[in-house]
Amino acid sequence: MNQTKKIKAIYETFCHAEGNQHIAGEYAILKLAEIIKAFKVKNVLEVGLGIGSIAGSILKATKADEINRYEGIENNAFCLTSLPANLEAEYKRLSIYPDLNSVPDKYLYDLIIIDGTDTNLVKIRSLISKHGVIAIEGDRSIQQKLLQDLFPGHLTVHTISKEKNKSYSPFPVQHWQSGLKIIFIEPTVHQYLWCYKEKISTKVKNLYRLSKY
Ligand SMILES: C[S@@+](CC[C@H](N)C(=O)[O-])C[C@H]1O[C@@H](n2cnc3c(N)ncnc32)[C@H](O)[C@@H]1O
Repeated sequence: MNQTKKIKAIYETFCHAEGNQHIAGEYAILKLAEIIKAFKVKNVLEVGLGIGSIAGSILKATKADEINRYEGIENNAFCLTSLPANLEAEYKRLSIYPDLNSVPDKYLYDLIIIDGTDTNLVKIRSLISKHGVIAIEGDRSIQQKLLQDLFPGHLTVHTISKEKNKSYSPFPVQHWQSGLKIIFIEPTVHQYLWCYKEKISTKVKNLYRLSKY
């Protein structure tokens, strides 16, 4: 089974898990896996682990040597008890902190996923690697603006899906799947090209979506 099929199958189990109402969208998780591969991401930090649909899908579908560390922020009691059950054997690959302030300045993260709130997003400046990527799930426009202001040389793309929510997802099937906002804090040539290809793809998908109304 290829990685996309694996992620889809794992994601479906999260769609049926208790507390599924706040899970990430399938398209966003597949895009995150694509980013991890394309930019050889080794260290990941996720703000808002929730019940683990992103962390679980990514960790279960990647080999142990593909990602060195996966760390995340979570302080909700229900989520903290759900994570070991949902991640199963992969739970041991995950480190959890209650907030960004508690993350030690020990490692630099190549990918920081924002899927929750934290009062100290400024801390990301000292936690992200030189050409790191920030990916924002959902709208989160206030957090997006704050993060873009932190990195004046950034390049941002809002990648969207041309598919609607799946019948097995907890989201309305008549709605388009949620997208992902991707901020390259100091883009390399590779990231620049990838980003522009994605911007064109977003334009095409927007036209496709309009044609379906
Ligand atoms: C959008 S959710 C995060 C989803 C997560 N990234 C995932 O992949 O499943 C944002 C926040 O909502 C809270 N949350 C998520 N699921 C919850 C639940 N079932 N009950 C209560 N709070 C929840 C958590 O504190 C989490 O940090």
